[in-house]
Amino acid sequence: MESLASEYPWPVAVTAGKVGAAIRGEFPIVAHTTYLNSCSQGALSHRVRAAYEEYLDGWDERGAEWAHWVERAETARAAFARLLKAEPGELAVTTSVSQGVNGVVSALPLGRSERTKIVISEHEFPTVGQIAHAQELRGAEVVHVRPEADGSIPPERFAEVIDQRTALVCCTTVSYRTGHRHDVAEIARLAHDAGALCLADSYQAIGAVDFDARALGVDFVTGGTVKYLLDSSGLGFLYVRRELLGKLLPTQTGWFADEDIFQMDISDYSPAADARRFDAGTPPVPNIYAGLAGISIVEEAGTAAIEEHVAGLAERLIDGLDELGATVVTPRDPARRGPLVCVRSTDVNALVAALAAEKIVCSERDSNLRIALHLYNVEEDVDRVLEALRERRHLLV
Ligand SMILES: Cc1ncc(COP(=O)(O)O)c(C=O)c1O
Repeated sequence: MESLASEYPWPVAVTAGKVGAAIRGEFPIVAHTTYLNSCSQGALSHRVRAAYEEYLDGWDERGAEWAHWVERAETARAAFARLLKAEPGELAVTTSVSQGVNGVVSALPLGRSERTKIVISEHEFPTVGQIAHAQELRGAEVVHVRPEADGSIPPERFAEVIDQRTALVCCTTVSYRTGHRHDVAEIARLAHDAGALCLADSYQAIGAVDFDARALGVDFVTGGTVKYLLDSSGLGFLYVRRELLGKLLPTQTGWFADEDIFQMDISDYSPAADARRFDAGTPPVPNIYAGLAGISIVEEAGTAAIEEHVAGLAERLIDGLDELGATVVTPRDPARRGPLVCVRSTDVNALVAALAAEKIVCSERDSNLRIALHLYNVEEDVDRVLEALRERRHLLV
């Protein structure tokens, strides 16, 4: 499949395979701020700003460009497919993870089957947990898989609760709270052995991790563009393993999920044969323009190169935190962590505010300081946050 690189003619400081210093000119914020907050919001690039302008210019000059706008949505579908090493027909274009997860659970015959159990890890983002619990109104039972003392949730913990009554297992790829990476392949295998399906919310991985949905063997992958895909909010995706497509009928739907949207048919429900059956209403066109621009930067750098770059920075960061005697919550093993490193604080709000006052942008969850690394970060960013933390050692556990 062709990458998006050729679609963006404007001059940018992006060179294929280049990360770190080679790409920083694309992101104005890094010129004046140490930006370590991609787990919350990716940095704005010139290219994403220009994409919004392009959308507005087209609308202004040509009016309603619906044919072109729908084509942009299909281009986004193909781009998401490339990021997951999947096929475009396995991808729904959504406005959020919530839409994707709601589509999946709406296709489960919860009240009409013996399989009523939804298993969720304690690391799920609220949207997944809350949607799972909303299914209690449809007869579901929700079981949480709790972490070990070190914060990890090994597949054995899932195995203890997955059984013949399980309909769906939700295991986020990378925890937004601690940076732990789940063994999604093994958890999917456990789910399948019991006849259940497996969903991996991969928002905290996609764009910073070289991802292969099929190699993981997982049934559903969802995520969005806000974080490591470098866009603003309003665009996401749902991957559905192609073997399942004929078997799943989402009851959460919309006219863009129909087999022929131009028929304007209101006489029946006849969804598309492929994963477009999980689309819903009018696509989020401005977000798609911006999302394609953000994804093009990730694709040009290459997710394998980004993952390697981030792993190197994370190692430097963890070594430095060890020297400070800090409590690093995120695993040392690069295979067991994502692009996020978390460190325990006695007063994390005070710490985030103190760092922000020095133009170092991080975030917090629970009592952890979250330091997120991405392609535009460099060793100087790591050293700068380490120095600031050394000065505030009393705020670390
Ligand atoms: C792991 C994870 N899942 C989901 C979301 C967001 O879900 P939604 O797109 O429904 O707002 C986030 C962050 O906002 C996240 O970190």
